[in-house]
Amino acid sequence: MKFLKLFLVLFVIQMQAQQGGMWIPSLLKGMNETEMKNLGMKMSVKDIYDVNQSSIEDAVPHFNGGCTAEVISPKGLILTNHHCGFSQIQSHSTVDHDYLTDGFWAYKMEDELPNEGLTVTFMVKIEDVTTSILEGTASLSSEAEKQKKIQENITALSNLLPKENWQENKIRTFYEGNQYMLFVTETFTDVRLVGAPPTAIGKFGSDTDNWVWPRHTGDFSLFRIYADKNNRPAAYSKDNVPYTPKHFLPISLDGVAEDDFTLVFGYPGKTNEYLPAVAIEQIITELNPAKIEVRDKALKIADNFMRKDNAIKIQYASKYASTANYWKKWIGETQGLKKSNAVTVKRESEKTFQQKITKAGKEKEYGTVLADFDKNYTEIAPYALARDYFTEVVLRNTELLSTGYKLYQLEQVYKAKGEQSFTDRKNNLIPGLANFYKNFNSTVDEKVFEQLIELYATKSPKQFLPQSLVNVNAGNLASEIYTKSKLQNYAGLIELLSGDAGTVLTNLNNDPGFLLVKEIADKYAKEVAPKYDEINVKITALQRTYMKALLELNTDSRIFPDANSTLRITYLEGVMEKYIPGDYEFDVPEKLVNLYNTKDYGPYSENGKMPVCFIGTNHTTGGNSGSPAIDDSGNLVGLNFDRVWEGTMSDLYYDPSICRNIMVDIRYVLFIIDKYAGAKNLITELKLVHPKKTNSLKKKNLK
Ligand code: ARG
Ligand code: ASP
Repeated sequence: MKFLKLFLVLFVIQMQAQQGGMWIPSLLKGMNETEMKNLGMKMSVKDIYDVNQSSIEDAVPHFNGGCTAEVISPKGLILTNHHCGFSQIQSHSTVDHDYLTDGFWAYKMEDELPNEGLTVTFMVKIEDVTTSILEGTASLSSEAEKQKKIQENITALSNLLPKENWQENKIRTFYEGNQYMLFVTETFTDVRLVGAPPTAIGKFGSDTDNWVWPRHTGDFSLFRIYADKNNRPAAYSKDNVPYTPKHFLPISLDGVAEDDFTLVFGYPGKTNEYLPAVAIEQIITELNPAKIEVRDKALKIADNFMRKDNAIKIQYASKYASTANYWKKWIGETQGLKKSNAVTVKRESEKTFQQKITKAGKEKEYGTVLADFDKNYTEIAPYALARDYFTEVVLRNTELLSTGYKLYQLEQVYKAKGEQSFTDRKNNLIPGLANFYKNFNSTVDEKVFEQLIELYATKSPKQFLPQSLVNVNAGNLASEIYTKSKLQNYAGLIELLSGDAGTVLTNLNNDPGFLLVKEIADKYAKEVAPKYDEINVKITALQRTYMKALLELNTDSRIFPDANSTLRITYLEGVMEKYIPGDYEFDVPEKLVNLYNTKDYGPYSENGKMPVCFIGTNHTTGGNSGSPAIDDSGNLVGLNFDRVWEGTMSDLYYDPSICRNIMVDIRYVLFIIDKYAGAKNLITELKLVHPKKTNSLKKKNLK
C-alpha cells in the first residue's frame, strides 16, 4: 500500500523523481521516510511535519482557497504566484496606478495594501479520524444511507473535536472514502499586498506559453499576513501587527542541479488517479473532445472581437484567460493520455489485478468490480456527455444562458421555499450580476450563442434535446433571442427583477431568453441529472471498493524511472529570445532589458547567467500553484506554477516519462525584487543561505 498514490488531497507533499504520488504529511513517517532518504533527502520527516514542534508544514498555508503560499520571513511575508494574486493586484489598479502593467512594490510596511475577502489558512494539526467517521455505517445496506450517516458523523465530529475558538475543524476523505482525516486550521483575513512584478514579467508569455515548456514566466507575488497583538487571526485593523510564524523557509541561493532531491508541498485540488481504463477511454474519446470543441468555438469568437476592439479586449481578458486555461489543458491531457497509451496500460494492470483477486481468494468481495465499472460507465456515457454539453454551453460559455440559469434557479427557490427565500436570493444575485454586465457584450455573446446552440443541437445526445432545439436554425433563434430578450443588459435585467415574486415570475416567463433556458434546464433536470446521479452514486461506491482492493492486494514495489534529463532550466536569455516589443504577451519591461544587457544580476546568477524557470518530476495539480519547491534540507529553491502540456494527464494517469511540473527559480524572484524593483527592504527580511557551498566547505575541512 505504501506505493499507491493518493486520491483527493487537501494538503500533501509531492516528491521529485519516481512515479509521481502525493502524500499526507502526517503519514510520511510510516509511508515514505526511507524512500525519501534514498532519494537524497537530508531532513527527517519530523522537520516536515511535527504536531508538537515547528516544522515546514507551519510555513505553508492555503492561499485564498485555491492556491498555496509559503512564509519566507519572520514578519509574516508570504510568496505565491502572480496568477494567484492576480485579482487582488487588479482590484488595486486604476488608470493612474496600473499595478498590472507597472507592478507594485511596498517599500515601507505602511504602503502595503489590504484585500477584502482574501484568506490565508494554516494547518495546525492533522489526524486520522476514519474509525469515528465510519462508526455506525457497517450495518447500513444502501449506499445512500451510508453516505447520510457519514455526513452526520462528519458534522457532529467537526463540532465536537477539540480546538481553540479561533480555529476550525475540517474533515476530508482520502482513498475514495477509505480514510478520513481531520485538519485543524487557522485562517487569517488581514492579508496585504506587498509586491507584484509587472504583468510582462509575472504573466510573460500569457496564454501562448501557458501549460508549455520552455517557460520564462516570473509568476510570483508577495503578501503579508497581519495578526492581532496575540498573533491570532483578526479582521483588518490599523492596529494589527505582522504575523510571527511558527516557521519560515530559508531561501537557498545555490539552485538545483540534475537529480537533486526536491519536494513540493501544497494544496492540490482533485486528481483521479484510480479511474478504470473504461473511464479514461470515455474522457479521451468523448468528453474531452466535446468540451474542447465548445470552448474552441467560444474562444475564437471572443478572440476575433478582442483583436478588433480594445474595450472588448479589456472586458473579456480575464474570462478569456480562464476559459483558455482548461481548454488548453484538456487538449494536452488528451494528447498525453494517447501518447502514453494510458488506456492499454490500465487495461493490462486491470488484468493483473483480476488475477490477484482470484489468487487471494477475494472473488466474492472484489471479483466483479471491474466488470461493474464497465457496465456502469457504458450506461452513464450518454448522460455524462449530455451533462458536459449542458455545463459547457449553458452554464459556462453562453453568458445570456448562464445568467438565465441563475434566474431559473431563482424560480425554483420560489417554488420550493416561497417568497422570503425568493427575495433573499434575488437581493443576493443583483450585485454579482451588476458586475457581470460590466464585462458583457451582447454582440459577442450572440455569436457565441449561435455557434454553441448549433453544437448543442447537433452533437449532444439527441434523446435529451428540448423541443425548441430539435432541427433548430441557430442563426434565426439567435437573432430572435438577442432582439427580444431583456437579459442582454443590466437595465433589462433590473426591469425583469422589479416587483414582488409574482410580478417577477410573470415577467421572466414572458422573456424569450428565460423561456429557452427554462426549457433546456427543465429537460436536463428531468431526464439527465437524476439518472446521471443515480449511476454516479454506484460508480463512486465501486471506486471505493476498487481502492480498498488496490490497497489490500497491491504489494508491487515501485520501479524507479531513470532520472535522466528530468530537470531543465531556462535562463533570462530565453526571455530575450521570445521578446516581441509591444506585443501583449511577449513584451519585456525596459528595465529588465537593461539589467540583462549589463548582466547586473547581483548574487543571484549561476555561472554568469540568470536562471528563470525549471522543471521537475513532482506530481502536482491545480491548486499547487504557489507551492514551495524545497531542497533536501528544507530550503526554498523554487515556486511551483504549472505543468508541461501533455503532462497535465497526470490528473488521471502519472507517466514519469511525460509528466513534469514547472517552477520559477527562486533566484529569479529575488533578482526581480532586489535588482528590478529595488525593494531592499524585503530582501533584508529574508534568510538567504548557501547550503551547497556550506556542505562542500565542510567536506573540505574534514579532509
Ligand atoms: N496553467 C496554470 C494554472 O492552471 C496557470 C494559469 C494562468 N493563467 C493563464 N491563462 N495564463 O493555473
Ligand atoms: N497552474 C495550476 C494552478 O493554478 C497548477 C497546475 O495545474 O499544474 O494550481
